[in-house]
Amino acid sequence: MRTPDTLTLELCNTDRAPRLSATSDFRNAVLNGLNQTPKRIPCRYLYDSPGSDLFDQICTLPEYYPTRTEKEILRKNAAQIGAMIGKGARVIELGAGSGGKVDRLMDALPAPSSYLCIDISPEPLERTARAMRQRYPEIDVASLCADFLEAVALPEQPSDVDVCFFPGSTIGNFERPEATDFLRRCRSLLKPNSLMLIGVDLKKPVPLLEKAYDDAAGVTARFSLNVLARTNRELDANFDLAQFRHRARYVSEPGYVEITLVSQADQSVTVAGKVFDFDRNEPIHIENSHKYTCDEFISLARNAGYQSLGVWSDDCDLFSIHLLRAQP
Ligand code: AVJ
Repeated sequence: MRTPDTLTLELCNTDRAPRLSATSDFRNAVLNGLNQTPKRIPCRYLYDSPGSDLFDQICTLPEYYPTRTEKEILRKNAAQIGAMIGKGARVIELGAGSGGKVDRLMDALPAPSSYLCIDISPEPLERTARAMRQRYPEIDVASLCADFLEAVALPEQPSDVDVCFFPGSTIGNFERPEATDFLRRCRSLLKPNSLMLIGVDLKKPVPLLEKAYDDAAGVTARFSLNVLARTNRELDANFDLAQFRHRARYVSEPGYVEITLVSQADQSVTVAGKVFDFDRNEPIHIENSHKYTCDEFISLARNAGYQSLGVWSDDCDLFSIHLLRAQP
């Protein structure tokens, strides 16, 4: 329920489903997705515990430039960004465990007032909140266990200005209209003149993009295939992982890396008692990762009701960080 003094932040996604339990959500999503043409499994199910460990490994791969580049941009520009945000800020981090990125922001803010972390998984959320309380004993630290897909009521905290921190180009998992929608919702639910600090991956030569999502050591392939292993573990399925191949390819219009698992044979798989037939070379879509030019993202944000206050990127223009202000 929304009340006048309760900020409600709804993070939208097309995979919205009634909330039952974690397992039945997953079950419904997989059964529903495998009944579609083309077959698909929503990318949010990539992040179970083994999946999150594999994603942490991805972030250290030589081919996967976003994590280290975003940290570098923050390191170089945090002082300027912090000065632009100003005093008394509440930092609202969307997603726990940014691997020290939020520390760089917090340390650069003049007298931050509070910190709020929102994440779907309780363990990383609590770990983050504990670490933040220890590191910043003088500020108010709160955490909120909520799904990106659900409406959540934000706890009351002292704040002169709210800054939503959404690093990692997680916004790239939204289709472009959904990304606009997501920003609009944030804007309608946050106080006027609230800020968004968002990491956005940039368009670049295709081989660099495709290698970032199909590394030589095969970690990204294991990350993708883990969603089938998870289906076997949790939904009594019998996917033969050797019969599916990870594929990453760039789609230049409008600009995204598409990740699929491609069936290597004509085969049938049973999931929770239901049989699904796969043709040889038939893909299961698992993820899109959208890429923008700085101008494209600024115009998307403007469309959603934000003014661009600044954009920072690295010398090679691999990655960008946008500071936006919600227009009243
Ligand atoms: C977490 C969505 C930002 O798109 O780069 C990395 C996910 N998938 N390698 C990305 C991902 C395969 C990642 N995001």
